[in-house]
Amino acid sequence: MASCIFILLISLIIMRDCLSSEAKVFMVLMDEEPVLSLKTEQVYARSDRDAMVYKKKIGVGHDIFLESLLQKDTYTKLYSYTHLLNGFAIHIESEEVQNTLRNATGIRAIHEDVKMQKLTTHTPQYLGIPAGVWKNLGGAENSGEGVVIGFIDTGINPEHPSFSNPSFRGTLKSSRFKGNCSIGERFPSTACNGKIVGAQYFARAANAYGDFNSTRDYESPFDADGHGRQVIHTASTAAGNHHVPVIVNGFNYGYASGMAPGARIAVYKALYTFGGYMSDVVAAVDQAVEDGVDIISLSVGPSAVPSGPSAFLNVLEMELLFATRAGVLVVQAAGNGGPTTSSILSFSPWITSIAASATDRKYNNTIKLGNGESLSGTGLAPPTAGRVQLPIAAAADVSNITAGILAVESCQHPDAFIRYLVSGKLIICTYTFDFEYDDAAIATLAENIKNIGAAGFILRIDPDIGPMLVKGTTMTLQVPGIILNDVEASMALWEYYTSHTIRGRLGQALVFNAKARILDGRQAIYTGQAPVVASFSSRGPDVNNAHRQTADVLKPNLMAPGSSIWAAWSPSSEGDPIIKGQSFALLSGTSMSTPHIAGVAALIKHKHPKWSPAAITSAMMTTADVNDQFGSPILAQSTNALVHATPFDFGAGFINPTRAMDPGLIFNAHFRHYVKFLCAVPGVDDKSVRQAIGFGCPKKKKPWCSDLNTASITVSNLAGSRNLTREVTNAGSANETYNVIVREPLGVEVTVKPKAFKIRGNGSRRLRIILKATEARKAYSFGEMVLQGKKKHTIRVPIAVYVSSSIGS
Ligand SMILES: *[C@@H]1O[C@H](CO)[C@@H](O)[C@H](O)[C@H]1NC(C)=O
Ligand SMILES: *[C@@H]1O[C@H](CO)[C@@H](O)[C@H](O)[C@H]1NC(C)=O
Ligand SMILES: *[C@@H]1O[C@H](CO)[C@@H](O)[C@H](O)[C@H]1NC(C)=O
Ligand SMILES: *[C@@H]1O[C@H](CO)[C@@H](O)[C@H](O)[C@H]1NC(C)=O
Ligand SMILES: *[C@@H]1O[C@H](CO)[C@@H](O)[C@H](O)[C@H]1NC(C)=O
Ligand SMILES: *[C@@H]1O[C@H](CO)[C@@H](O)[C@H](O)[C@H]1NC(C)=O
Ligand SMILES: *[C@@H]1O[C@H](CO)[C@@H](O)[C@H](O)[C@H]1NC(C)=O
Ligand SMILES: *[C@@H]1O[C@H](CO)[C@@H](O)[C@H](O)[C@H]1NC(C)=O
Repeated sequence: MASCIFILLISLIIMRDCLSSEAKVFMVLMDEEPVLSLKTEQVYARSDRDAMVYKKKIGVGHDIFLESLLQKDTYTKLYSYTHLLNGFAIHIESEEVQNTLRNATGIRAIHEDVKMQKLTTHTPQYLGIPAGVWKNLGGAENSGEGVVIGFIDTGINPEHPSFSNPSFRGTLKSSRFKGNCSIGERFPSTACNGKIVGAQYFARAANAYGDFNSTRDYESPFDADGHGRQVIHTASTAAGNHHVPVIVNGFNYGYASGMAPGARIAVYKALYTFGGYMSDVVAAVDQAVEDGVDIISLSVGPSAVPSGPSAFLNVLEMELLFATRAGVLVVQAAGNGGPTTSSILSFSPWITSIAASATDRKYNNTIKLGNGESLSGTGLAPPTAGRVQLPIAAAADVSNITAGILAVESCQHPDAFIRYLVSGKLIICTYTFDFEYDDAAIATLAENIKNIGAAGFILRIDPDIGPMLVKGTTMTLQVPGIILNDVEASMALWEYYTSHTIRGRLGQALVFNAKARILDGRQAIYTGQAPVVASFSSRGPDVNNAHRQTADVLKPNLMAPGSSIWAAWSPSSEGDPIIKGQSFALLSGTSMSTPHIAGVAALIKHKHPKWSPAAITSAMMTTADVNDQFGSPILAQSTNALVHATPFDFGAGFINPTRAMDPGLIFNAHFRHYVKFLCAVPGVDDKSVRQAIGFGCPKKKKPWCSDLNTASITVSNLAGSRNLTREVTNAGSANETYNVIVREPLGVEVTVKPKAFKIRGNGSRRLRIILKATEARKAYSFGEMVLQGKKKHTIRVPIAVYVSSSIGS
């Protein structure tokens, strides 16, 4: 402040800049209870009228509090949070106001706002859903009926066929859901058509920070994002209509369907082209749970693991814990920071964090050279016309050197080309480092090739650079093209080209005798090992705070397809010129795998409406596959090779929807168990828990974090031995006898008591698990506990243990 006052003497304008540079948004939590506290878990004890009255009282209370504390023009209240949290988001202009607020009584905690990042046709068949699940739920169109999935994302395009509401379906007959649709730009009142049952947007913090661009980010729930992770894509994966044709550039790539075509969609737009702010996301989640969604799909995460005694205590995590208490399952993208270890951005045990895999579908393209040789590559591109071979020319050989454009070989500059020379030819472009740094893009290249009148392109890798993973190969292209990802193929092409091009004395190309034709790259082939953990998918072990201390929590929880996923796209989205205007796009990311799990969860919820979020997650985890389609252990794409996948890559494994519908036993957990967990986190004390959730820890002896009743066992620091407990509940109504089979992690002796047990229909039973360190390995090792039922239920529980010492401390 001192420096600002000094500047004031010189110039008022600078003073203003100085003040606004301190303008910040804060999320302030009050001592009093939110609306949810009126209601017990899952049961809405009080009438909705009481809730509405209390909600109003909270909001008015915030206004009165602020008016009595602060001067009128020094702040703007952006939101009142009322349902899950009692608090508000406030935009403050100066540090003085911040200090006043910090000193005020009645406030439990103040958190500065932080930026958040945005983290098909084939997948339902691949997951075995049509035969295994849809059939038993009354057909595809009905599967997921009565379930509402809330998407916290970038908005939705209501005109898309994946979200039309067929007449047979009618309106949602759920007494729980009562969301609203805000009408606005490109979002008419008809947009909420019974398939889309709610749509709202939250942009007040984005606006306050000046990041909301009104020409690009619509002031409505309409989706205008172009960075490839938007709700229209994610919503169609989870709950898109059944059998919608995927037509891109006039080509039919197949038919798209969501996992739960009968589920309804509610959209809470809180992310924009630039990303988003936590205070907007918190407002979106508050509204979603108040509206009564059953499942929340979060394709968003923090930019980094939050600081403080524990990341688990940050505002959004706490809010999601309260959402879980209200019976809402939260699934979240694990992050796209793989294959680096501990790159996970979704870390709390009450959240289901999703890794991404590649499936068995590949797109492969072939170029046939004039010498009879065939080279294979990729490129979702149409073929060159007929069987005619077209002349090939390297970009540099058909460019105007005097135009002074550098790096013509990357084909990013249409003005570099000599039009009459490129006409009708296949142009060889070179993949340079510019592509790696996003200064060049395959989309721009293809657009240029089309505009200059060339017949197509061949993108080769520069052998001097060496092998590299070409970015953007899953883009659909309008012009014939092939990407030679492989150095050998790139060299073979170049050799053929140079040996068939006649040059003048100065080296200039005179006659282009090299010829080729490109085949159709849009035909999918189903082959190869799958699923495989995608290299970009964020990895465990879970971290507890910014100091990167690991936690006794298995993350990610599960894996689903997330690489090259066809799903609905908003034709008016900004971003890549090639994807722009298309109704479907092929995208990759854990944001793509997350809605698969949201959709499968909706199917489980349809069949078992009373199950808690933890029970649904347990059902998906204990039944997940750890072997690929050939029965060999699932592999993971690492930096350079395929390696054996561990639970830190795929959690409990790859989702198996058919088995998840009937898991046999479940590991259940409720709000009070999560509170006990929080109280056991190293570095967390009674005071920090009280600040985060409004009340302190139970008086009883401190348990271990590893005692939380999850369908996994993770011990990040085993010294000597540790006794854990788990409680299993029979999800069926028949008695069943189970045998316990253990595969021990290296360096750990595992004893489970009892070794065999009978469990009654709907009954529960405790298991004691004794871990005894036999060798300090100073690295995680993995094992599993399998509960094998006599009635064919198999429950798999992954075990991850880090033995720091074989002697107890
Ligand atoms: C806040 O309280 C502290 C001590 O409790 C005091 O030193 C400080 O001046 C107060 N600040 C404001 C802005 O009231
Ligand atoms: C939904 O909108 C209607 C009419 O605009 C309004 O009366 C109602 O309070 C809104 N409901 C919620 C939950 O905001
Ligand atoms: C807003 O978006 C438009 C369209 O993409 C762009 O031209 C403009 O530069 C953007 N404005 C700002 C302030 O970023
Ligand atoms: C691509 O297809 C060609 C011919 O159709 C085949 O020879 C080649 O092995 C395939 N490549 C991959 C990576 O599947
Ligand atoms: C090459 O570029 C120069 C400078 O822009 C221009 O004057 C000339 O006409 C161009 N030549 C051809 C063949 O396009
Ligand atoms: C763990 O259980 C074993 C066997 O029941 C018992 O002997 C041991 O004392 C227990 N250890 C701890 C640390 O509670
Ligand atoms: C188990 O619960 C279900 C549903 O609540 C009920 O229909 C069934 O009779 C119960 N079975 C037993 C053995 O208690
Ligand atoms: C299940 O077990 C209970 C107690 O062990 C027994 O009373 C009951 O008859 C059994 N039910 C069936 C269907 O076998």
